[in-house]
Amino acid sequence: MIDIHHHLLPGLDDGSPNMETSVKMAEMAASDGITHIVCTPHANDRFTYSRERNEALLNELRARINGKVTLGLGCDFHMSYDNIQDALDNVGRYSINGGKYVLVEFADSHISETATDSLYELTMVKQRPIITHPERNPVLQRHPEKLAAWIRDGALVQVTASSLSGRFGRTAQATAEKMLKRNWVHFLATDAHNVESRAPIMSQGFEFLRKHYGQSTAERLCIHNPMAVFRSEDWPEQPEALDLDPDASQGQLVTFRKNSFLKRLFG
Ligand SMILES: [Fe+2]
Repeated sequence: MIDIHHHLLPGLDDGSPNMETSVKMAEMAASDGITHIVCTPHANDRFTYSRERNEALLNELRARINGKVTLGLGCDFHMSYDNIQDALDNVGRYSINGGKYVLVEFADSHISETATDSLYELTMVKQRPIITHPERNPVLQRHPEKLAAWIRDGALVQVTASSLSGRFGRTAQATAEKMLKRNWVHFLATDAHNVESRAPIMSQGFEFLRKHYGQSTAERLCIHNPMAVFRSEDWPEQPEALDLDPDASQGQLVTFRKNSFLKRLFG
């Protein structure tokens, strides 16, 4: 399995506190069947973000784990004005392995009216947004139509593996299941922070998917799609996402200045 969201690098954020813990997390992931990890430290107002420092730590960790897991580098990109401006000026500083996919996290409390414009701006520098754990976001739990509109325009969706077992509460669990049933989910990832409460375990999520949605869906969300992202390959064909049509949805849909902008850019 390939884990595209993992706070593995030590001492940078609220993830691994030190190199010893990072080594343990990598070993735990390897034992769970995870072969590739994208290290994704937070890039937000709370923690200082330096791609150069992150690369140095990545190389140090690679030497320590001796090939047990293949490591890549990205970040947990918080959707903020400053981040967007910097990403527009410095393509690849935030993306996964310097390629064409970037994780995008929204604040829990509020999603700005300009969020769609910001996603559009990212696409202008050839960055395809992957919305991280929308099932855990209270705004998106209440307003799935916002997510539907972004998916309709080509944004991708990552769900946290442990949301499926209720780690983030019943609402997150139920939201994740609704999204899975509609084919709105493209990736499962651990969003691991430590070896205890937020451990790097994907196998239970894989098994849940296999049991309820079939082997091919489990492999698509845990292996094939995340591998395409890890390698910055073209986006593979997916099953049709259901209930994205604004006319068929209930509630007020977000309207867009640039309809299907991602599809135009990425096909
Ligand atoms: Fe995260």
